[in-house]
Amino acid sequence: MTQGEKLYEGKAKILYATEDPQLVIQYFKDDATAFNAQKRGTILGKGAVNNQISSALFQMLEQQGIPTHFVRKLSEREMLVKRLTIVPLEVTIRNIVAGGMAKLLGLEEGIILKRPVFEWHYKSDALGDPLINDDHILALGVATTEELEFIRTQSHQINGILKAYFAQRQIDLVDFKLEFGRFGNRILLADEISPDTCRFWEQGTKKKLDKDRFRRDLGDVEAAYQEMLNRISPSRSG
Ligand code: TMP
Repeated sequence: MTQGEKLYEGKAKILYATEDPQLVIQYFKDDATAFNAQKRGTILGKGAVNNQISSALFQMLEQQGIPTHFVRKLSEREMLVKRLTIVPLEVTIRNIVAGGMAKLLGLEEGIILKRPVFEWHYKSDALGDPLINDDHILALGVATTEELEFIRTQSHQINGILKAYFAQRQIDLVDFKLEFGRFGNRILLADEISPDTCRFWEQGTKKKLDKDRFRRDLGDVEAAYQEMLNRISPSRSG
């Protein structure tokens, strides 16, 4: 698979065309941003680590019956994925109160929720990805009822799989963000699943092993990402 023209550059990844119009290369950068890119920095080695973590998680989810855009890992920083039309919605699922939910409702971080909280955010950097509901989405024609139902069901299923997977690795999955895309008449899980897009707390110590270390200047950012990789694929890292 050869790298063609640059199709899109985001904050953490670049998409390149390939000779196959159905496939694109997702290249993982070390760039990190927070608070809608008001804070910028570099997390050394992040691109390689997130590619490995995301590849392992997509493969695991596929084995559990979740359709994703993942085709294969091409190199340290490159993943071959299906070319999708991204649904301009970000799904957040929360198991424990943190971040945006703590702020929105004036809550302490760490409250264990009685049931997972599902949120839609409209994908717009200009607006800061605002929280929206089904009515906004349907009234504006952003997605159909069937698509919303499918994405919601898939997201809860993914939460169940990931929660159990990380619990086996002594990690609490606090919350995470997912994106989906259209591929013909199917909807596939897209983007990445990594410490950039999830909150991971070590069980017992509550140590943060995710991008909050960068957002909040907690230090040991690279070590935290590496630690998550070690827990996910111990044989391939080091
Ligand atoms: P939040 O608490 O800031 O809303 O974040 C919820 C989850 O979504 C958290 O695991 C981090 C992830 N996330 C992203 O992947 N991208 C973003 O732009 C934001 C704000 C959060």
